[in-house]
Amino acid sequence: MSVTQLRPGGAPAPPPRVTSDALLQKKLAGHPITALTAYDYPTARLVDQAGIDMVLVGDSLGMVVLGYENTLPVTLDEMLHHTRAVARAVRRAFLVADMPYGSYHASLREATANAIRFIKDAGAQAVKIEGGAGRADLIRRLTAAEVPVVAHIGLTPQSVHSMGGYRVQGKSLDAIDRLSADARALEDAGAIAIVLEGIPRELAARITAQSGVPTIGIGAGPDCDGQILVFHDLFNLTFAPPAKFSRQYADGAEFFASALTRYRDDVAQHRFPSDHESYHLSHEVQAALGLPQPRARKA
Ligand code: KIV
Repeated sequence: MSVTQLRPGGAPAPPPRVTSDALLQKKLAGHPITALTAYDYPTARLVDQAGIDMVLVGDSLGMVVLGYENTLPVTLDEMLHHTRAVARAVRRAFLVADMPYGSYHASLREATANAIRFIKDAGAQAVKIEGGAGRADLIRRLTAAEVPVVAHIGLTPQSVHSMGGYRVQGKSLDAIDRLSADARALEDAGAIAIVLEGIPRELAARITAQSGVPTIGIGAGPDCDGQILVFHDLFNLTFAPPAKFSRQYADGAEFFASALTRYRDDVAQHRFPSDHESYHLSHEVQAALGLPQPRARKA
């Protein structure tokens, strides 16, 4: 059994929680917003302790931690389960949970009930939904139900089939107009931030300049108000070549592989566990059992 210490004794008071207004203030001050995904307790704790402003429990978890081919099979229960784990870890960051495909598409009523579960049961501060102006009514409804919404436009992975694959969006003049109009409609409907994924830098810069709420880019160039990446992309833990827009900050695959090989070899060669890594009977009990007495330690 390995024990993760949940509440270290005498820990200092946690820093103030990042709010949607704090994110807006960063935009207005021109200070980049930092965001990253996390899907479980230990990584969320590391991300939060690193001072990242926003943690997203993205439905990308379907691909990077559950091994699905795309994000479409991810269920509401899976998202709630991972959001709860992350919420237990996050003290400072603004915590956003992705609503999975199918959980907000059938009716406004069902979508609202599902969104409320992320806030009430799972501890998220906001939900994220994919889609353009067509989501404006839902965002109004959720906002009225006190559910802050982060919108997501551009390359929206839940639309992989209707997009015909994962393709950079917003390249034609028509598409530029459409995405700019989407961003305006989503902001007007009450979105507190807009994720811009997989669009040309120039379009992201234009939407960001026109938007009154923060834009958070992924594959959208450096001119957004903030940047988000997938945790496993940062650490080479996806078993796939990195996308152009992502940067690997460490080789987690190599780090884990080398430790795992050493562990396997240590066990196979009787080098693990050592005597120091074992529990012992007291000298009295050992003597009563007639076991050889340990040698006295040298001074
Ligand atoms: O699911 C996800 O991880 C995302 C982003 C990276 C924005 O939607």
